Amino acid sequence: VSAPAGQPVHEFASQTALVTGASSGIGCAIAVALAARGAHVCVVGRNESKLATVAARCETHGVRVINRRADLVSEVDVAQIEADCRRTFGRLDILVHSAATMSIGRVADASVSDFDCLYQINLRAPYRLTQAMLPLLRSSKGQIVFINSTLALTSKGGFSQYAATKHGLKALADSLRDEVNADGVRVLSVYAGRTATPMQMTLHELEGRRYDADRLIQPDDIASIVLHALAAPRSIEITDIATRPLQAPR
Ligand SMILES: NC(=O)c1ccc[n+]([C@@H]2O[C@H](COP(=O)([O-])OP(=O)(O)OC[C@H]3O[C@@H](n4cnc5c(N)ncnc54)[C@H](OP(=O)(O)O)[C@@H]3O)[C@@H](O)[C@H]2O)c1
Repeated sequence: VSAPAGQPVHEFASQTALVTGASSGIGCAIAVALAARGAHVCVVGRNESKLATVAARCETHGVRVINRRADLVSEVDVAQIEADCRRTFGRLDILVHSAATMSIGRVADASVSDFDCLYQINLRAPYRLTQAMLPLLRSSKGQIVFINSTLALTSKGGFSQYAATKHGLKALADSLRDEVNADGVRVLSVYAGRTATPMQMTLHELEGRRYDADRLIQPDDIASIVLHALAAPRSIEITDIATRPLQAPR
């Protein structure tokens, strides 16, 4: 796709996107990047003020924005998101699952209620939201992106609960792809390595490491590879992208 010199490329113009976890980190970067390339976006998160800031950044690109405060664990909120997209956009081309939470602890003594919480947010919520949005995505031959983690590919001590939910998310994406490709729907898993976001900052604190954002992947760089994959020619499906910071952790 080309545009006159100095003009932004709007390869997602007239497309619509729903981005969860849009109030922070990677989801925020993806929502703003999609809006900058012409997509109308529905931004979903729980923190009202952070969500309003992201919605305003998207609006500066002249696209329509739905600002939907929602807890993805709530069935009522999921139904509301679907109804908003149907009523305001009438279609959905791109669904990005970025919302998640993380906890660390050894299997021997980690809290089972933390595990239940991670399951609800990291695995059950993307499953349920995908179910709700699938009719719209099927009719637009849309695309679904799961922001996953390299811990879904190789787990480590201390991360059993988070990694188990992310392994499950990979299984969900792989099964779904097999089910929806025939309808022209593409499914992408992005396995992010350590990325400079609030979640990673908290993890550094829990691990007792010094947080040095410059040595980590930048959220805008994850957004740029996601958009690259979403814009790929329709004869190709990019199924999985694994990333890691170029520099080793200190
Ligand atoms: N950062 C990393 O190093 C890294 C590495 C590998 C994978 N990932 C994955 O990348 C994705 C994005 O993470 P991030 O680093 O950008 O984290 P983040 O900055 O902590 O953002 C997490 C987002 O999830 C939302 N969220 C959490 N629980 C929710 C719920 N119940 N309902 C609705 N929204 C909820 C948060 O919303 P509110 O803040 O509004 O509550 C926030 O927008 C996650 O899937 C994460 O597992 C991150």
